[in-house]
Amino acid sequence: MLGPVILAASRSDRMRRLISAAPVTKQVVDRFIPGETVDGVLPIVRQLTDNGLELTMDVVGEDITTPEQAEAARDAYLELIDRLKPLELGERAEMSVKLSMFGQALPGGHELALANVRPVVEAAAEIGTTVTLDAEDHTTLDSMFAIHEELRKDFPQTGCVIQAYLFRTEEDARRLAAAGSRVRLVKGAYKEPAEVAYQQKHEIDKAYVRILRTLMEGEGYPMIGSHDPRLIAIAQELARTAGRKLDEYEFQMLYGIRGEEHLRLAAEGHRMRVYTAYGTDWYGYFMRRLAEKPANLRFFARSMITK
Ligand code: FDA
Repeated sequence: MLGPVILAASRSDRMRRLISAAPVTKQVVDRFIPGETVDGVLPIVRQLTDNGLELTMDVVGEDITTPEQAEAARDAYLELIDRLKPLELGERAEMSVKLSMFGQALPGGHELALANVRPVVEAAAEIGTTVTLDAEDHTTLDSMFAIHEELRKDFPQTGCVIQAYLFRTEEDARRLAAAGSRVRLVKGAYKEPAEVAYQQKHEIDKAYVRILRTLMEGEGYPMIGSHDPRLIAIAQELARTAGRKLDEYEFQMLYGIRGEEHLRLAAEGHRMRVYTAYGTDWYGYFMRRLAEKPANLRFFARSMITK
């Protein structure tokens, strides 16, 4: 019950101001967002890769309101890529981007987001890695898929995310399960209406399995974005049945969630990529993490009361 309330708050400016200013927020935020700057996050990059993990890096931010902010987002990614270059990690550190941060919701936003994200994809390719386009709320997805298709003409490795809770996704998955594609499947983290999305956990989980089967039986590269132990076991079974080798799919989880499972899967020989977010505009990302698990909210509320 709490999840939808928190997700509504994640879009409220008033709540953003209140929560961002609370002195105790930071220690709870740090669990999910381990740095505010590139310098702050690079030690984490080293630590994770030393432990045999791979990364997808996210400069937090979304729903910007001016073209200048979109350019600043682009520049933040370019700086990150520049700083990753000497580490020579190649594909072991890729980028995840939210197109709303690149101007997608502004007037002329589709073209603006494409123009801002293209240099990031180019710079990533220059250091031997790639970019995955995150999926945001359902109203943004036609534009996201069109930008994905456009970028793939020059950079076929560009990935995208699909969300199991949306009715449209089974069809999207069939279209995307083609040779050369890279597709991350997640359950979905936004507040979506019943007209477009399953609302019950068991329905979402069942859809996740159906879509994952399509991806595994297809010719692309599936990226399993979930912490759910049942889905992870099912994914391994589906991969086996589809005759996929260990390097023909990968698991992905968020930094700060089930860290021991990251290491267990990597030790079993799986590719395990950790979605590592950093930056100062963490409010929306943080609130979605609270919404996913009410216990996080209780911990957060308790720390506010006891300080
Ligand atoms: P579920 O929510 O059922 O959680 C399974 C278990 O994992 C829980 O029982 C708990 O132990 C643990 N867990 C999950 N979330 C937790 C949390 N916040 N705190 C503590 N423990 C937690 N969504 C989206 O809409 N667009 C996107 O682009 C992405 N991108 C993305 C990338 C990656 C790598 C991941 C892993 C996830 C996303 N998501 C996303 C988020 C996704 O849609 C979903 O909200 C979360 O992954 C939670 O769903 P699970 O599949 O983990 O299952």
